[in-house]
Amino acid sequence: MSKAPIGVFDSGVGGLTVLRALIAQLPREHFVYLGDTARLPYGTKSPQTVARYSLQAAEALADYGVKCLVIACNTASSVGLPTIRERIENVPVIGVIEPGAQAACGASRTGNIAVIATEGTVRGGAYQQAILRIRPDARVNAAPAPLFVALAEEGLHEGPIANDIATHYLRPMFSPSDAGASVPDTLVLGCTHFPMLAGAIRRAVGAKVQIVDSAATTAASVDAQLREAGLTRTEGGEGLVRLLATDGRERFASVGSRFLERAITPDEVELVDL
Ligand code: DGL
Repeated sequence: MSKAPIGVFDSGVGGLTVLRALIAQLPREHFVYLGDTARLPYGTKSPQTVARYSLQAAEALADYGVKCLVIACNTASSVGLPTIRERIENVPVIGVIEPGAQAACGASRTGNIAVIATEGTVRGGAYQQAILRIRPDARVNAAPAPLFVALAEEGLHEGPIANDIATHYLRPMFSPSDAGASVPDTLVLGCTHFPMLAGAIRRAVGAKVQIVDSAATTAASVDAQLREAGLTRTEGGEGLVRLLATDGRERFASVGSRFLERAITPDEVELVDL
């Protein structure tokens, strides 16, 4: 069983930032990554549609005999997790919201926490609820930053356009016009694409704000759960990574290479139907 792969799912290539953290944390594990590139973005779709797509993707990954399933998409985690957990039996299912909320609560001194995410994730309130469950005294302010997704995919994550858009989204929270308003000390990057814009985001919020994303904490959580269940792959060398997409092998390879920080060739990407 320990040789079985870990399934990782996202709406597209964004979850490769989470896969990168998982490989760094668990280099001996085998991974099957599925990006639902035919149907992205999830962030602008209704919760019902995202939940349906996410369940189909999770079921497809379960057919690969995965020992654990990581929902590496914030939008999918925010609406799909309970149903996926109910329907995919005997396989631990880990989303990115809870680990991200934990990281934020650990990093924040004042309890004043800002979250940026897709429209769907902000609307559903999953981060706000997860943070308040851990830290009931927290003040959480969440805002959508949808253009960051396109900037990251277009490779425009650095430079004047990225800086302007980061300022546009973040100034209302971090430099409020009301001088008496309190400013968050922590910012959660609640979308898989946003770590790609870390430089522009840092410039917009200033040096003192703690910026957290869920990739590393999710990887640590997967590691802990596998250990607890005795499912860690302890023998053998580096694990294998299998990449699946529902459309566009070339685009998955070219855009995904930046997210995974290693070259992906189109031949490596297998097309699947959900
Ligand atoms: N992966 C999505 C997320 O983390 C962002 C891209 C999309 O909207 O599908 O919310």
